Amino acid sequence: MGSEAKDPGASRPDAVVRTEGLVRTYVMGDQKVHALRGVSLSIFRGEFVAVMGASGSGKSTFMNLVGCLDRPTQGRYFLEGNDTSTLSRDARAKVRGKQIGFVFQGFNLLPRTTALENVELPMLYQGVPGRVRRERAEIALGKVGLGDRLDHTPAQLSGGQQQRVAIARALVNDPALILADEPTGNLDSKTSIEVMALFQDLSAQGMTVMLVTHEPDIAAHAKRIVTFRDGLVLTDVTQKQVLDAREELKQLAAQQADERDPAAQAAAVTGLTLAPGGAT
Ligand SMILES: Nc1ncnc2c1ncn2[C@@H]1O[C@H](COP(=O)(O)OP(=O)(O)OP(=O)(O)O)[C@@H](O)[C@H]1O
Ligand SMILES: [Mg+2]
Repeated sequence: MGSEAKDPGASRPDAVVRTEGLVRTYVMGDQKVHALRGVSLSIFRGEFVAVMGASGSGKSTFMNLVGCLDRPTQGRYFLEGNDTSTLSRDARAKVRGKQIGFVFQGFNLLPRTTALENVELPMLYQGVPGRVRRERAEIALGKVGLGDRLDHTPAQLSGGQQQRVAIARALVNDPALILADEPTGNLDSKTSIEVMALFQDLSAQGMTVMLVTHEPDIAAHAKRIVTFRDGLVLTDVTQKQVLDAREELKQLAAQQADERDPAAQAAAVTGLTLAPGGAT
């Protein structure tokens, strides 16, 4: 019904994700839950997309389908142009290992296992030789700013650092797509902004990122915000103004410096402004 013509993903070679009328119905006894009721969405290379919507609106269900963790009841899903909707369980596992990196709210790192080993794990499943694994894991950890924490176990890392290990792990097989379900749900606000800075960097480097979040402050870092309601896409908006996480971090650092500076504090109290030049 004209939906093909309106679907830009069909004609663009840079569509990483393209879904066509995706339906997922869970059957529980004699009850049916219509979690997704026909979602057609394309996501293009280098896009940073935030998925929002009320609890139960179908975000995780959609994420699981896009992540090839699950199969649609109806509709089709093309990952980098290949129809995945009919793949067997094993074939889907292969696709996941090669083409998709996952980041979860709870980090999902192996305890008592070093950052380096955690990041090496996905390559182990891909049969990458030991020396190459180590090298690539080191590079990935360097990229997320943890080059000096290779031998730390999760218990020896802060929450933000653990999530960065998880992001390094998601990146290490050079996937087509990073999927993050509430990645900042367990982090304080500054650490969340640090994680968003990382996703923004990755997207700027051409990585495709889809992130589920409940927090508008987090979604504000994505160029595009897709909102679900009752198993359907309610809105799909490209933001004119995107929050720049690196800029926010600079401002936070400046604020903290001000708070330590008695002159700035006095100025704040008396309403006097400081000489310009401090805000870089
Ligand atoms: N495995 C399942 N079996 C049966 N019903 C399910 C299953 N998973 C999800 N549902 C139902 O499908 C609907 C969509 O769930 P989903 O987890 O996708 O929501 P969500 O948008 O991710 O919510 P939240 O923000 O709470 O994580 C809900 O009504 C939920 O109860
Ligand atoms: Mg969910």
